[in-house]
This record gives sequence, C-alpha cells and structure tokens, in this order.
Amino acid sequence: MNTIIVGATRGIGRAIARELAARGDRLFVLGRNADQLEKTAADLVARGHKEQVGTALCDLTDASTFAPALAAAKAALGKVDCLVITAGMFGTQDQLEADLSFTESLLQANFTGTILLCEHARPLLLADGGGTLCVLSSVAGDRGRKPVALYGASKAGLSYYLEAMDHKYRAEGMTTVCIKPGFVRTGMTAGLKPPPFAGDPEPVAKRVVRAIDRGEPLVYTPMMWRWVMLVIRSLPRFAMRKIGF
Ligand SMILES: NC(=O)c1ccc[n+]([C@@H]2O[C@H](COP(=O)([O-])OP(=O)(O)OC[C@H]3O[C@@H](n4cnc5c(N)ncnc54)[C@H](OP(=O)(O)O)[C@@H]3O)[C@@H](O)[C@H]2O)c1
Repeated sequence: MNTIIVGATRGIGRAIARELAARGDRLFVLGRNADQLEKTAADLVARGHKEQVGTALCDLTDASTFAPALAAAKAALGKVDCLVITAGMFGTQDQLEADLSFTESLLQANFTGTILLCEHARPLLLADGGGTLCVLSSVAGDRGRKPVALYGASKAGLSYYLEAMDHKYRAEGMTTVCIKPGFVRTGMTAGLKPPPFAGDPEPVAKRVVRAIDRGEPLVYTPMMWRWVMLVIRSLPRFAMRKIGF
C-alpha cells in the first residue's frame, strides 16, 4: 500500500507509520516541522522502510500548504492508496477558555484544516481508484461534555464529515475510516491523569491498520471506549450537567 501520513512525527501517528513501514508499505510523511520530518523519515528507514521516505511541509493551520504537499507525495509515490491523518491539537477546557487565539488554532487544525486537507486529497484518491481516507477523530466528539467542550466540538464536526464521506463515496471506491481513540498515553495527554481503560499508541496503531485493511467505517480504540461512550451517549442532559466527565 502507498500511504501518505500526516502526524507521523509523534504519538499514535508515529506508531502507525512504524507499523506500516515494518510490513513493507511505502510511505510519504507530511508535517509542519522540517527537522522532525527528517528524523521521522530516518527512523522509518531504520525500522524497515525499503527506500528513502519522502517528506513535505504541511501545516493544518495553513491551507495553502495542502496542495503542494499532496502534489509532492503523489509525484513520489505514483499511485496513492491511503491518506492517514493523525495530526491534531489538544488543550484542556481551562487552557482553551483562557486563550481564544489558542482556541482558534485548535479549531482551525482539528476541524477546518483537517476537512480541507481531506477535500484536497479526495480527488487524488478517487483518481487512483478510491483507496482509503483514515482520520483520527475522538470519543470527545460523541457528546457535549463539560471538560472537553471546545476540543470535543472540533472532533464532533470532524466525525460527522467523515461519516458523510463514507456514505457518499464508498460506492465510488473511496473508503472512509473514522477512528475514535479514547484516552491514549502520548505527548498529547502528558500531565493528565489517565482514566481506567487508558491505552498505548502501539496497540492503537495495530487496530488502526486493521481497520484500514478491513475498510471499517468507525472504530473505537481501546475497544472498551465503545461501551463507555454507549453509556455516555444514553445519559439524559440533567445527568450530564451533574457529572464531571
Ligand atoms: N492521545 C489521546 O488520548 C487521544 C484521544 C482521542 C483522540 N486523539 C486524537 O488522535 C490524534 C493523534 O493524537 P496523539 O496523541 O498521537 O497526539 P501527539 O502525540 O500530540 O501528536 C500530534 C501530532 O500532530 C501533529 N500536529 C499538531 N499540530 C499540527 C499542525 N498544525 N499541522 C500539522 N501537524 C500537526 C504533531 O506534529 P509536530 O511533531 O510537528 O508537533 C504530531 O505529529 C489527534 O488527532 C488527537 O486529537 C488522541
């Protein structure tokens, strides 16, 4: 599989890229920091990628970077089978409420930028037969919740977009895979108290790759979060106002 990945420099994205490289897939890595991209490319070659890994700058808060980044990836890979977007921003509700320019960047990266990047990539994927669009959303978008009101709103909008893409384009060959991680121990969650059922990037990455291979439209990972969110989605509003979750 020839895969473009955005977010491979750290966390879950790095684990997914390593998993794909180890099984022999060809990768092209997009990200916002040239030094981090070079380190990531070298790491992937050391872990089994059979040729040099191409890189290009792509910042989710700057839509002007999307077309040149995807064009560079297409030129290097030839056929594109898959785009994986794990890049994203997080802030606590307190941090975001206290700094609206930070909130603006987060909403731009997680919602507007991610969706616009998918829209730039969609014709490219469809021209090569459809392939797979795999994007990391979050369980935080499943319900309006006090501790993740702003971050969750960005992911709620993203999840709806991904569901609609799958409904609209699967018949034309493009499969859309929406991943909803629960709490995963990465740099994004460093300093937060891990809840029960917290996961680690490597098993989450294996689950993401399996979902891509199977064309699963929606995956909760670690799996227990599927049941946790089923309960949370069924709670009445008065209960959601009372609990701190
Ligand atoms: N960890 C969790 O508990 C959890 C739970 C639910 C959902 N998620 C979602 O899963 C995805 C991956 O999370 P993670 O834990 O792996 O995060 P992470 O370790 O913080 O990694 C975030 C990645 O996003 C990239 N990135 C951030 N802002 C960017 C921008 N403006 N343009 C391009 N790249 C950008 C970072 O690149 P740099 O190296 O340049 O900073 C990094 O590669 C995110 O979408 C996150 O919202 C995570």
